[in-house]
Amino acid sequence: MVQPNSCFPHPRYAGRSPAFDDAYALIEDAGIHFQGQLVGTAASVDPKAPARNYADCFVRDFFPVGLIMLLEGRGDVVRAFLHLIMQLRGQQEELEGQQIAPGVLPASFRVQHNADGDEEVMADFGDRAIGRVAPVDSMMWWSLLLHAYVQYTGDLEFARGPEIQRMLRMILSLCLQSRFEVFPTLLVPDGSFMIDRRMGVNGHPIEIQALFNSTLRSASLLLPEPGSQWLVDLAKRRREVLQSYVQTYYWLDMDVLNRIYRYETEMLGENVENIFNIHPESIPLWVQDWLPDGAGYFVGNLGPGRMDFRFFAQGNLLMLATGMATTTQAEALTSLIEQRWTDLLGRMPMKLVYPAVEGDEWRLITGSDPKNIPWSYHNGGNWPVLIWPLVAALLKVDRADLAEKAWQLVESRLPAARWPEYYDGRLGRLVGRRANIGQVWSAAGFLLSRYFLDAPDLLSRLGFDEALPQRSTEGG
Ligand code: GLC
Repeated sequence: MVQPNSCFPHPRYAGRSPAFDDAYALIEDAGIHFQGQLVGTAASVDPKAPARNYADCFVRDFFPVGLIMLLEGRGDVVRAFLHLIMQLRGQQEELEGQQIAPGVLPASFRVQHNADGDEEVMADFGDRAIGRVAPVDSMMWWSLLLHAYVQYTGDLEFARGPEIQRMLRMILSLCLQSRFEVFPTLLVPDGSFMIDRRMGVNGHPIEIQALFNSTLRSASLLLPEPGSQWLVDLAKRRREVLQSYVQTYYWLDMDVLNRIYRYETEMLGENVENIFNIHPESIPLWVQDWLPDGAGYFVGNLGPGRMDFRFFAQGNLLMLATGMATTTQAEALTSLIEQRWTDLLGRMPMKLVYPAVEGDEWRLITGSDPKNIPWSYHNGGNWPVLIWPLVAALLKVDRADLAEKAWQLVESRLPAARWPEYYDGRLGRLVGRRANIGQVWSAAGFLLSRYFLDAPDLLSRLGFDEALPQRSTEGG
């Protein structure tokens, strides 16, 4: 049961069913305090978690928890979290002889209690993480949460403070820096987002591009005009190009597939059709049978001679939920989800990636990773946290019916298994072999999607819309 003096003084769904109380209680238990203030939540409370850093507060894991905090009147927690993460940036200057770029935020942090009673916050910028992966998405989730906080509470003053303004400028400068790239998309190393292991997701993964677009939007909305105008203009221009580039080149439906199938290759110069020199032979066999008529999705990755045809759920759902897809694409993507419900949702929404890589492909792509065996974990496992972007996406296209149907899949099964991190198998019927129990974002996904289903206008009130935030809140 939720305690009266808990972090949720009057939980909206208290008593609705034991599952809701349990979800609140899990978030409560996972609370991380610093100097007496609740500042985040551990990723999992499972004492048998396979890695020690599950006790850390991850920026990406906290995002749905932060939205719940806002909805439960705990804007102070979100504010404290945003502030602390920003402070951690200065904690470390160098990584392996390289200057940490100023806009980079940590993947996670923990509060260490020293023998003398002191508290110390320790951040992980990827230098402690398994595989030493770079948390590119942290600054993105941070910006989105800041935007949600300002939009929901109206506390524009917080965002207008010099520290936050500086942070936003650093994030924009970092993302907009020109390097060797010829594409408007953001180039990232492997494992730089939710899929934080080697999974062939280096380059230009769709999830990063969707987050990048929202980051550009959030940061430029929160930077006041004159001082940073040049950066805001740059961000605006980049967003326009990025958006139409992703809509044009990442999109796959039967018409596009037919064109790719008959592509000419080795085309030089401007105005050529096959600009990436995709070889039709690289189209995997499963695609033509799997892709229904009238349906489509955004491919996982794109680069020279490379189209990753796998369906990555979070990227696709964010394309819908943040309004980055065209209306026609949004309809076709919804149709794919509906027609391929069993493959993509199965018994537990939703598959992180479809299909799994197997055999030699698994060996080469994952580096023979036993945690990412076919139809498990990042390689075709089902992740309950994805229920929230799924519901958000479906509500965006006015398919509350489908969103409810998806929610029913988590309603009793997820709490009954005590909030596992992921499920295994083609249909997601098995609790993941190495999954944590008591995974906080699984419970947060459950709660948050219920809030969205009951009040779809929350999406715009939390900044998911294209519309600008109400400037009338200016000044406080
Ligand atoms: C795993 C997931 C990552 C998540 C972390 C903490 O590493 O891949 O996305 O943030 O666990 O839950």
